[in-house]
Amino acid sequence: MQIIRTIKDMQKWSMDRKKEGKTVAVVPTMGFLHEGHLSLIDAARAAGADAVVVTIFVNPIQFAPNEDFDSYPRDFEHDAALLREKGADAVFAPAVTEMYPAPVTCMVVENKLSKGLCAKTRPTHFNGVTTVVAKLFNATLPDIAVFGQKDAQQARVLKRMVRDLNFPIRMVIAPIVREADGLAKSSRNKYLSPEERGRALALSRSLRAAKSMVEAGEKDMAKLTAFISKEIEAAGGKVDYVEAVDAEDLEPCPVKGEKPLMIALAAWFGTTRLIDNIVF
Ligand code: PAF
Repeated sequence: MQIIRTIKDMQKWSMDRKKEGKTVAVVPTMGFLHEGHLSLIDAARAAGADAVVVTIFVNPIQFAPNEDFDSYPRDFEHDAALLREKGADAVFAPAVTEMYPAPVTCMVVENKLSKGLCAKTRPTHFNGVTTVVAKLFNATLPDIAVFGQKDAQQARVLKRMVRDLNFPIRMVIAPIVREADGLAKSSRNKYLSPEERGRALALSRSLRAAKSMVEAGEKDMAKLTAFISKEIEAAGGKVDYVEAVDAEDLEPCPVKGEKPLMIALAAWFGTTRLIDNIVF
């Protein structure tokens, strides 16, 4: 497995693989890898990738000044060992100065899907994500890019960026990976105390209960989002949002119809903000 630090070397690696006739996939991450990230490599292979590059870059411009950029967990040696064992072909782990050698005055901005849900409390976050992912695409030159459904809004925003800016890249969205007790895997779970972690199970539990209600015929989404908010609060969480939206265009969806619908949520347990979602 090759460890690559510069954009120039990254582009060369990717072009060399393509000259060999290989299909290149990128799995963008911020490191501190867990099984959720590793499942994205499986999804890349299942989508037809012959060469998989995982990027590890904690992107400063997607964190607001009051957020956890400095304390975001990092463990490059452990990540590299996991990726080697998993059979990744390359890791692209640039320094901040490689990605942003000068102050950023040019950004990629998505103006619709990136406005609601998480953007209500993180208004600049998705501009940082679209900008860095566009840069990572230009560095890794992939045929396929794989993102996780856990960051559902991010995945929709990035699909829209690929569509609107004509990146010649096939987007694959891989399912959420959960712990045995239902908690969605996340690098930020590390911040939770054992007690907070137990209380945070209210997220997946209430989403599962909502799904059963829909399967039993409930169509009124306001009832379900109110139920989920109540469950989270009863568990001591602080709700950021619980919303029912169209699973693709993220438009509010008050009544369950024929089209796939998603309930997405964010909530704090202690100082840790967690997100989760379910699609019916
Ligand atoms: O989902 C993440 O880990 C990040 O937002 C991403 C897509 C790697 C961009 O920094």
